[in-house]
Amino acid sequence: MRHIAVLPCDGAGKEVVPEAIKVLRAAGADFEFEEFDVNADSYLRTGVAISDEVWRQVSEADSILFGAVGDPRLPDAKYLAGVLLRLRFELDLYVNLRPAKLYDDRLSPLRREDRRRVDLMIVRENTEGLYVGMGGRFKQGTDDEVAIQEDVNTHLGVTRIIEHAFGIAQREVVMVDKSNAMTFAGGLWQDRWKAVAAGHPKVKTRHLYVDAASMQLVKDPSQFDVIVTGNLFGDILSDLTAELIGGMGIAPSANIDPASGRGLFEPVHGTAPDIAGKGLVNPVGAILSASMMVKHLGDPHMADAIEGAVESAIRAGECTRDIGGALSTSQAGDAIVKRLR
Ligand code: IPM
Ligand code: MN
Repeated sequence: MRHIAVLPCDGAGKEVVPEAIKVLRAAGADFEFEEFDVNADSYLRTGVAISDEVWRQVSEADSILFGAVGDPRLPDAKYLAGVLLRLRFELDLYVNLRPAKLYDDRLSPLRREDRRRVDLMIVRENTEGLYVGMGGRFKQGTDDEVAIQEDVNTHLGVTRIIEHAFGIAQREVVMVDKSNAMTFAGGLWQDRWKAVAAGHPKVKTRHLYVDAASMQLVKDPSQFDVIVTGNLFGDILSDLTAELIGGMGIAPSANIDPASGRGLFEPVHGTAPDIAGKGLVNPVGAILSASMMVKHLGDPHMADAIEGAVESAIRAGECTRDIGGALSTSQAGDAIVKRLR
């Protein structure tokens, strides 16, 4: 039996994770779930984001099912860094998979029907780039202040993420960077891109600057298969692609280390403090993340069954208001569960 560490964390995360567990149970997953008290309340109380004991247990689990992290009461990003970014960095979950698939035409914001067939994967580098927290503020608070945020790109980090993108592509890999302006980091990405691509002659390749990629994603997302990019660009583009398929409420993600097999699965959305706690939050992003977890743990058939149940519920309009239904969070979970029975 697989041991799953459950970290619902804050706000909307606390509402959607139980729905994901409900769906996993209905699908027949042989998992043992253990929930950990990692959240802003305990951080505010203790000043510790994740205790050593919890860290040990969470990092030894087969997988981590994660909700969302953050709290408007916190003045800075230390808690966020101590939970989500620490898990990504220290467990070396270097692949962040962010699929975008349109399950129902009515959810597309695009007017042109021929461009609505969205089924793409963003492969986001998850352990480097502008997220590493290197840099500093000099003469802080004065008119002479200088702030430096360093963009860390390594030969290993860039190579392995591009390799991963080629490993999952069916048609084409598009590499996205900003090498025309950020020439040092961009130069390394370009070099590793060409070197890795040379080893995969059967896969089509294309390069786009991130500004042009954003434009193309809105203009005609049906052209994309796999997009590989750095940490920050992947973060930004995956909010954009979420809107192409119905919004933040339904976009899933997987953070994985293919070498160790470890993974953390979370919806792309955050804690949604404006709507959290009222039964309005869409559980689909968390449920599809759970389906990615099942697939990662070796059961693609069960993963497909969950995804199929989600698709069927959405098409029937048995979903939350953000995607045109009238159900509460837990009713939307039930609509998926009943399709798995
Ligand atoms: C995400 C989130 C995080 C990120 C934040 C909360 C640090 O926006 O998972 O997309 O930027 O990676
Ligand atoms: Mn984000």
